[in-house]
Amino acid sequence: MSKEMNRREFMKASAATGAVLMTGGLSPTFAQELKPIQLLPPQLDGGRPLMQVLKDRRSTRAYSSKKIPLQILSNLLWAAFGINRPGTNLRTAPSGFFSNDIYVATAEGVFLYDARANLLNPVLVEDVRNLSGQQYPPPGVYGGYVGEAPVNLIYVWDRSKKRPHYSEELNMYHVFTNTGLISQNVYLYCASEGLVTVVRSWFNKPALEKKMKLQPEQYATLVQSVGYP
Ligand SMILES: Cc1cc2nc3c(=O)[nH]c(=O)nc-3n(C[C@H](O)[C@H](O)[C@H](O)COP(=O)(O)O)c2cc1C
Repeated sequence: MSKEMNRREFMKASAATGAVLMTGGLSPTFAQELKPIQLLPPQLDGGRPLMQVLKDRRSTRAYSSKKIPLQILSNLLWAAFGINRPGTNLRTAPSGFFSNDIYVATAEGVFLYDARANLLNPVLVEDVRNLSGQQYPPPGVYGGYVGEAPVNLIYVWDRSKKRPHYSEELNMYHVFTNTGLISQNVYLYCASEGLVTVVRSWFNKPALEKKMKLQPEQYATLVQSVGYP
């Protein structure tokens, strides 16, 4: 794949043609097929009153292994950073000039959220949650792992996208602010829906980025575990 056709463009093309993306490094044993997952339209008539949700918002670090149904995952991703004004492609969270890509790590593998197509594009046929769900370095206060959370959202900044007249630092502020806004949307949706979540900067970033086969310019900003108590 040429540098010009990066991973994201390749995946968009794959999704458009209905093709299944297989990652290069997989052994045949692990090379089961993962197809793009069409997410469902978000349910916009649900949810608890905002003030009640704010009262209940909190970080939780213990999860059951109960899976998240597709409709709930669809709602969650739309709440996180979906398109709420289709004519303009603007989102549920404010964004600077460049924002995060959201990767979704599940037991089945890693997917990239495509908000425009309301689609999850497969990136890696491997369960990376032992890295994305692990507190690293293991701190005494919170324990080593963030439970069995069925979903880890991995927020990724593509540093190749930058405003040339902005410093690296200013580009970074924009992206990290966007990460915070998205992750708070996730917190609020979780509090409304009876899901639990925690956003985390303690993860083994180099190991996770390597496992996900991210490009050198891709930078994992934060991860967020989501599941049921
Ligand atoms: C930028 C950021 C990084 C965080 N990193 C971690 C982390 O690595 N591990 C963790 O367990 N919690 C992490 N948290 C969650 C905080 O510990 C938590 O929000 C704080 O203890 C307050 O608790 P509350 O969210 O229940 O109000 C992080 C929060 C933020 C905003």
